[in-house]
Amino acid sequence: MPRKRKQINIALIGQGFMGRTHSNAWTQVTRFFDPPIRPVLHTACGRSEKALRAFAKRWGWANVSTDWKQLVASDEIDLVDILTPNHVHAPMAEAALKAGKHVLCEKPLAGTLDDARRMVQAARRANGRTFVCFNYRRCPAVALAHQLVRKGKLGEIRHVRAWYLQDWADESVPLMWRFDKKHAGSGAHGDLNAHIVDMTRFVTGEEITEISGAIAETFIKQRKRMTGAAGGGIAAGATSAKKTGKVTVDDTVLFLARFSGGAVASFEAARQATGHKNSNGWEINGTKGALRFDFERMNELEYYDATVPPATQGWSTILATESDHPYVGAWWPPGHIVGYEHGFTHQAYDVLRALAGRKPTVPQPDFADAYQTQRILAAALKAAKDKKPVKVSTVK
Ligand SMILES: NC(=O)c1ccc[n+]([C@@H]2O[C@H](COP(=O)([O-])OP(=O)(O)OC[C@H]3O[C@@H](n4cnc5c(N)ncnc54)[C@H](O)[C@@H]3O)[C@@H](O)[C@H]2O)c1
Repeated sequence: MPRKRKQINIALIGQGFMGRTHSNAWTQVTRFFDPPIRPVLHTACGRSEKALRAFAKRWGWANVSTDWKQLVASDEIDLVDILTPNHVHAPMAEAALKAGKHVLCEKPLAGTLDDARRMVQAARRANGRTFVCFNYRRCPAVALAHQLVRKGKLGEIRHVRAWYLQDWADESVPLMWRFDKKHAGSGAHGDLNAHIVDMTRFVTGEEITEISGAIAETFIKQRKRMTGAAGGGIAAGATSAKKTGKVTVDDTVLFLARFSGGAVASFEAARQATGHKNSNGWEINGTKGALRFDFERMNELEYYDATVPPATQGWSTILATESDHPYVGAWWPPGHIVGYEHGFTHQAYDVLRALAGRKPTVPQPDFADAYQTQRILAAALKAAKDKKPVKVSTVK
């Protein structure tokens, strides 16, 4: 049974890209917010002790470990933060939940629907709380969109179009775990569509019920094998050998969808969309108004109010930095914008609130919620493979 107390000891597993964002968040959260529980950076865990020691020194972790099994069972740990490739989310989360810990897990919940289901079942049996890192929910502009939809500003939602476009995956990038089905489950799909499926479910408050017109494509089918470890960014520091190996995941997945309230939708995830670094966005059109967001301009939420007289209708740009916008009052004066890392700090704050029995600023996905997103991802891959529409209710 997790202890109820004023501070919690955290074990982080995986000191790569997400290892840095989460370490920063656990450190920053008490500087800018007053969470009811303080996080203690107890142990950082990974595979290379030498790299871990340098990581722990930089980010303030008190201990290091290369044995995650022993670590998640330790009496000293209260929350396990899982930041490893997707294939080990399930065994790590199951072991941590069995040992009575709270678990925060990176997205996608897992590489496969089977793993994701096991994780939900483990969460049901456990006393610990579960959280999944869909960090874009915690951009102030996205959280504001969620609140505006709840206030009825869009009316009935008719159209959702969502895109997550990056361009880092050219031929020079070696065969890292992200291109290997065994480790990742899928490519751009689980990596990027997972975020926009979650965000559009979160903003609309509706569920996706059917997928059709899905296309999955892999443009680069062989990549040079990787030597050593990448670390700190998506492909930062990755070096390659002469030998090549097979890419077993998609580079892009597109699909159409229906939402429970009647809206129709399109989704596109791509890693070779030249010109787009991290264009993670959506536009939602309703009968009373519309909203638009793109992470490359993450402080802005665009709003069209169709209820004002036609003479003054037009898109307006809300700079989501006012003190009454979600989260941002804790940071800087209005107009002094926030960045990528802030979403992770907001998540840390809401996790700590939830553990103290308080409401998060905006709803937070647990394993059961993230499993819904995983079902939609699985349905889209099935629709692409069978070249037929798939009802999400048939994918369990
Ligand atoms: N929320 C987001 O926007 C976002 C962004 C990037 C990645 N992610 C997710 O975060 C997770 C990690 O991605 P990343 O980009 O940080 O990867 P990464 O390759 O940069 O880091 C992975 C880390 O896990 C460690 N690791 C791998 N297997 C391990 C094992 N068996 N035991 C202990 N440590 C192990 C590696 O040593 C490395 O430190 C993935 O699930 C990914 O989908 C989320």
